Amino acid sequence: AVERTLSIIKPDATARNITGKVNALFEEGGLRIVAQKRLHLTKAMAQQFYAVHAERSFYDELCEYMCSAPVVVQVLEGESAVTRNREIMGATNPANAAEGTVRKAFGLNVQENSVHGSDSPENAAIEISFFFSGIEIAG
Ligand code: CMP
Repeated sequence: AVERTLSIIKPDATARNITGKVNALFEEGGLRIVAQKRLHLTKAMAQQFYAVHAERSFYDELCEYMCSAPVVVQVLEGESAVTRNREIMGATNPANAAEGTVRKAFGLNVQENSVHGSDSPENAAIEISFFFSGIEIAG
């Protein structure tokens, strides 16, 4: 089925001015960017977005990193978009990511891994509504 997923191009990628290169991989992979905006997260926003990881050892460092430079948040649409996007991104740790994936091409380390993508359709809906209202999404 056609789905939508929430994607974030992370600070390591915006800082290196490679958002277009990342978007090219999404588009070449069959996903359509149906909403997109660049913003600088506050620490509170990062903490709220990643609340599911609040008990993890890397949570504070992750939230500091996510507000260290702008991000590009986007809604990607396509057939099985959640799974498809995770294939295009590659493994969380760039060291384990397959050839041709975003994280293999651009990720620096397990934290600065260039992109985030929703892990399920249920979380995609929650994450999309965190950043976008309905009128901002044009499918
Ligand atoms: P993401 O897919 O956005 O989900 C949670 C993020 O936490 C992950 O990508 C990484 O940026 C970060 N992360 C995951 N595991 C680790 C780890 N072991 N150490 C540091 N950061 C991590």
